[in-house]
Amino acid sequence: MLAGQQVVILRDNVDRIGGNEAQRSNIMAAKAIAEAVRTTLGPRGMDKMMVSQAGGDVVITNDGVTILHEMAVEHPAAKLVIEVAETQDNEVGDGTTTATIFIGALMEQAEALINRKIHPTIIANGYRLGMQKALEVIDEQAIKTDGEDRDMLIKVAGTAVTGKSIEDAKDIITSIVVDAVLTVARKDEDGKYKVDEDDVQIKTMVGDSMEDAELLRGFLLDKTRVQHSMPKRLEGAKIAMISAALAVAKTQVKSKIKITSSEQMEAFSEQENETLRSIADVIVSSGANTLFCGKGIADAVQFYLAKANIIAIQDVPDSDMKKLARAVGATIVSKPEDLNEEMLGEAGLIEEMKDITITRITECKNPATVSILLKGTSQIFVDELERGVYDAVRVVMDALEDGEFVVGGAAIDIELMMKISEFAATQEGRTQLAIEAFSRMFEVVPYTLAENSGFDQIDKMVALKAAHAKGENHAGLNVFSGEIVDMLAEGVIEPARVKRQAIMSATETAALIIRVDDMMISKNASQMGM
Ligand SMILES: Nc1ncnc2c1ncn2[C@@H]1O[C@H](COP(=O)(O)OP(=O)(O)OP(=O)(O)O)[C@@H](O)[C@H]1O
Ligand SMILES: [Mg+2]
Repeated sequence: MLAGQQVVILRDNVDRIGGNEAQRSNIMAAKAIAEAVRTTLGPRGMDKMMVSQAGGDVVITNDGVTILHEMAVEHPAAKLVIEVAETQDNEVGDGTTTATIFIGALMEQAEALINRKIHPTIIANGYRLGMQKALEVIDEQAIKTDGEDRDMLIKVAGTAVTGKSIEDAKDIITSIVVDAVLTVARKDEDGKYKVDEDDVQIKTMVGDSMEDAELLRGFLLDKTRVQHSMPKRLEGAKIAMISAALAVAKTQVKSKIKITSSEQMEAFSEQENETLRSIADVIVSSGANTLFCGKGIADAVQFYLAKANIIAIQDVPDSDMKKLARAVGATIVSKPEDLNEEMLGEAGLIEEMKDITITRITECKNPATVSILLKGTSQIFVDELERGVYDAVRVVMDALEDGEFVVGGAAIDIELMMKISEFAATQEGRTQLAIEAFSRMFEVVPYTLAENSGFDQIDKMVALKAAHAKGENHAGLNVFSGEIVDMLAEGVIEPARVKRQAIMSATETAALIIRVDDMMISKNASQMGM
């Protein structure tokens, strides 16, 4: 209302939620998301079964980001929380559950502060100060190693896969993961390790057991030649890569061709055949003996390629085309006429694998390509295995690049909680309360690990704090015995990068959400379930 007159600035189809209600709704949504994944944290965390009613697909997983993906969430604040988990996954590959429950804890703390009439701006500011302190504490506490410390890397991989249904084959799988990463790692000018995620491929097959996992040099493509008459194995491959379909282009205008005699029919198919034959001829004359095509290959083209003893594989997914091009040093062209000798990639050997529809491309021009082949008795199982191994590959890469580790099993969290709480005491006014609240975010890891393992949360927290107060800064919770033990000695270590990323993105997003006091929701957009 303006001078007694109502001014309408929003369209009819916009809902508006303001003030406390907006804050409450957002806090509740963020807490609900955290609640959904907290029971999966740690080696004794449980798995979740997600069933899609539409397709009947079943996913069983312990992986935070996967669970959140599968949940069809509508609330805008909940979506922001899920984005944090996704960022965590993209940036560092592990710690998605941790990042999510961190936000839940920050929102819970914020709720209490807001109830005490502390302004959201002060809370957000205190959270940022707390975050900076947290990053300093991690710098101080991080264990630094030089060069490749295989033993540490194995432990990092082991920590990432605990609780992810890998227990029985943990030694085999962690050593495969570490070898894979070390094979593709390069050193830059200042002697720092650099690893490209795309150089390590993970493939799965149903059959055999988990212990039969293999590390293979080269690239594995889960496709095979289009015709059985094409060679199954080929040495000295010259590889053409074409993104478009190899077929007769459909005319834009739908024209009806009336064929009245068998001669006409023959002439017509003769002409089409000629076109297809010339497509095959262009490929043959480029000097290629192998073809990877991003789309389909017409039967006639397949026939002529087979006659020329070329291995052709069709419908290769985009992402595989790119990685493969990198591995063999080929340039992907959009049509056959663009091919020439320089565009071709090279591989020493191309071979179809036994019992599975996988073509293995080895002795690639770029030798830094390795593949991990995972095996298991069911698709649901190998899918979860793949997620665990993916986490492990990513953390080993992070750890190798940075050479910085923190001690897990709640050890680093207790240290952070205590150091930030001390820091809060040095600050003035209400900011002190916000930083103090921030420090309590770190309670969520020990609490949740204890809870998920069936131990009394308060008892364990008291014992952990007492140990850290005595200077035992690696003391953490043995989730199997319930004892407070030196987690470094237990080999429970994680890359410092994973923890840093979780703290940073949780804090930024929490600060963003709590400062919202007005939500305008356009009803035209997808229904938002508030
Ligand atoms: N053997 C162990 N003993 C105690 N704690 C452990 C052990 N192994 C891992 N942890 C702890 O478990 C937590 C990680 O659990 P989990 O892998 O389930 O979640 P996340 O890494 O946050 O998310 P996700 O793996 O789903 O992306 C870390 O705090 C880690 O220190
Ligand atoms: Mg993990």
